[in-house]
Amino acid sequence: MKKIIVAIDGYSGCGKSTTAKAVAKVLQYTYLDSGAMYRAVTLYFLRNNTDLSGNEEVKKALKNIKITFHFNEAKGIQEIFMNGENVESEIRGMAVSTYVSQVSKLSIVRQAMVDIQRRMGNEKGIVMDGRDIGTVVFPDAELKIFMTADTTIRAERRQKELLEKGEKISLDIVKQNLESRDKIDSGRSVSPLKKAIDAVEIDTSYLDFKEQVSRIIELAKERM
Ligand code: C5P
Repeated sequence: MKKIIVAIDGYSGCGKSTTAKAVAKVLQYTYLDSGAMYRAVTLYFLRNNTDLSGNEEVKKALKNIKITFHFNEAKGIQEIFMNGENVESEIRGMAVSTYVSQVSKLSIVRQAMVDIQRRMGNEKGIVMDGRDIGTVVFPDAELKIFMTADTTIRAERRQKELLEKGEKISLDIVKQNLESRDKIDSGRSVSPLKKAIDAVEIDTSYLDFKEQVSRIIELAKERM
């Protein structure tokens, strides 16, 4: 069977990462959370008060950021490190979520991230989730999925995740953040979030998680 690339794109909080992780596990493929990379860069910029309007400043800051992924055997998950520090938990908080779409609309940030993503997918056998994976990063991916879900359902799921991390945020605020990110991500001039013409759309609002994963596995196997 040949190795393929599975690209999963979609709106914020649709369950892309959880789905992508589960698909990668079944296929014994590498999983890459491209959103985590934009989040790690955002965290660095926040900590260093990087001025986003200064191209040179952003460029310089990007040179100081080294992003790596390491598999945590105990937790069975891939975790992201920024300059050697495990930032997996911190990047998921509201501070980064509020700011990340402003950072990810910058073309020099995108170029740097896309280069790393393409290198990681070089040998195929990868499941990558994000906003532009099927349209820009891997336009030739053998399988492209576009995930959607009702906004209130997405906000409830996200609120629960934040609560599990100890952040108690009202449903309205979480919903506003998702909507605002979707708006910026879909409206930006570089690599906007959109469904690739050859992507299979999956609405996860009322889908059983196992069903969702098996549907993607089935589609992947048809393309191997
Ligand atoms: O996937 P996640 O919600 O963690 O992504 C956080 C943010 O990173 C998105 O709202 C978007 O601004 C940005 N992103 C992106 N392109 C990707 C993945 C994420 O612009 N491929």
